[in-house]
Amino acid sequence: MNTNSKSAVQQFIMSARELFAGEQDPVRRWEKMAPLLEALIGDPSIKEQSRNWPVCRQGDDRAQNLLFYEDPEYKFVINGLIKSPKSRTQIHDHAHNWTLYGVLDGHESIERYQRTDDGSKADYADIRQTEKVKVGPGKVDLVAPYQIHAEESGEERTVAIIVRAERAGGFLQGRYDPATKKYWQGYGPEQIPYELQ
Ligand SMILES: [Fe+2]
Repeated sequence: MNTNSKSAVQQFIMSARELFAGEQDPVRRWEKMAPLLEALIGDPSIKEQSRNWPVCRQGDDRAQNLLFYEDPEYKFVINGLIKSPKSRTQIHDHAHNWTLYGVLDGHESIERYQRTDDGSKADYADIRQTEKVKVGPGKVDLVAPYQIHAEESGEERTVAIIVRAERAGGFLQGRYDPATKKYWQGYGPEQIPYELQ
């Protein structure tokens, strides 16, 4: 049915808007969003076009995302994240923002962490890794608010399409260093507008 990547994205936006209108409960809403993103990243025209997407800066305190779309009414956004081989995100959370992370191309490891302290000590967080899974094209990962995680690309460039409840970058998110047990906050990824062809 899809003839190009623009129509695949339009189809996703239409279905997501219907879902936002009909489902108010955030947990159910975001669980139901997952198959929509699976369909989008399964569309061959999207993968084809993604070969031209530029690599996003990673690794320092402020990463970058491509910004493909922001819904004027429901505020959800569609981002692209292109990582060069062997790059790793900081261990972080997304604050209150719901996130669906869909792997379009390449393989990466997704790590999850759990906090073991009670959060009462300033600038301090004790975390331990609870999960490390290798994922590839077609995998959609639902990241709930304040869930602590990191991603690492393998030998290849990786491309992800991310759907967020709202545009990141304008509010503080948590960051964690398990070696020093340091906790701090920083602004989420800088949003680079990018028009899909
Ligand atoms: Fe993240």
